[in-house]
Amino acid sequence: MEEIKFNQIGVSFKGSGSYVPDQILTNQKISKKVDTSDEWIKSRTGISERRISNIDENVSDMGYKAALTAIEMANWDIETIDLIVLATSTPNDLFGSAPSIQAKLGAANAVAFDLTAACSGFLFALITASQFLKGGSFKRAIVIGADQLSSFVDWNDRRSCILFGDGAGALAIESTSEFDNLIGFDMSTDGERGSFLNLPSKNNKDSIIDNIDFLIGGFSPIKMNGQEVYKFAVREVPIMLDNLFRKTNFNSDQVDWLVLHQANQRILDSVGERLKIPREKILTNLEKYGNTSAATIPLMMDEAIRNNRIKQNDIIATSGFGAGLSWGAAIIKWG
Ligand code: ACO
Repeated sequence: MEEIKFNQIGVSFKGSGSYVPDQILTNQKISKKVDTSDEWIKSRTGISERRISNIDENVSDMGYKAALTAIEMANWDIETIDLIVLATSTPNDLFGSAPSIQAKLGAANAVAFDLTAACSGFLFALITASQFLKGGSFKRAIVIGADQLSSFVDWNDRRSCILFGDGAGALAIESTSEFDNLIGFDMSTDGERGSFLNLPSKNNKDSIIDNIDFLIGGFSPIKMNGQEVYKFAVREVPIMLDNLFRKTNFNSDQVDWLVLHQANQRILDSVGERLKIPREKILTNLEKYGNTSAATIPLMMDEAIRNNRIKQNDIIATSGFGAGLSWGAAIIKWG
């Protein structure tokens, strides 16, 4: 039997997929609900519209559809998938939504679990799955980012409700002993600044019997300090990517595409400027979808792969950032 050389196996990217709900909420429509305007939202964020899940669909449905299209692109038999990691902060089952995706796919040989890291979730999941592959434990993995923030937004809070939308994206990755197309990565957390962005549990008490109280399960809407989140993103993301370039002996000139978490066009522009990456290399689709949390990076990548912008062997610098606070980055070669 061939000996597996632990930590010497790399990852290759085999497929991408995505799904967005068909219900479109434009800026004009939001301005019927809260005191805002298309002009304000567009100029501050770059967002024109976002998708809202239909009431009969949830994270597991969206994640399944994204995963299926990634598997089709990879041309894999479903039974050959070993691992499914779902990054989400809005599971339809708090015990985990990944197992229902596994069941819908019929991926009977895959272990499936959720991972929560808000808008950094997809990158954290991609890096997590890659460790199983590089370590030789598993061969094929589907990494999904899916979120349904429409269920947790305060639709009366104009400071935050304009930003978010629903969607899902997925990548199919495989281990290989010949090269490593996950060229480098980094991850960071600063819980001290966690209060800038939360989706906290409700503190509603009830009693089971006299003297034994319990907290009723449930969540309050998203709470966000927009300015602090903005400052955090434009400071930390360029620092992390810059360090990563140095660590991997790359420089920003060699990057074909910058794929950032799609939070706000001004954040994308500022990070690009600090890294000296020209605008035409910064992929963006937040005009159509807003911030879909864990879904933005694979949703953006899938769109760019399917319309032939991202091509085989292109170098992609990517970063996810958000609640936690948490942030991560990776340098990827597509293929
Ligand atoms: N329409 C009209 N006016 C608005 C709106 C709105 N939708 N929202 C806020 N305003 C008003 C405020 O009330 C305030 O008015 P006031 O001075 O009379 O009180 C004024 O506009 C300025 O408000 P700010 O909050 O200072 O607006 P800012 O310029 O910071 O823009 C924004 C707000 C767009 C949210 C910005 O801070 C931002 O993009 N931050 C990053 C947030 C983000 O990306 N979060 C998610 C990332 S992490 C993750 O993805 C989970």
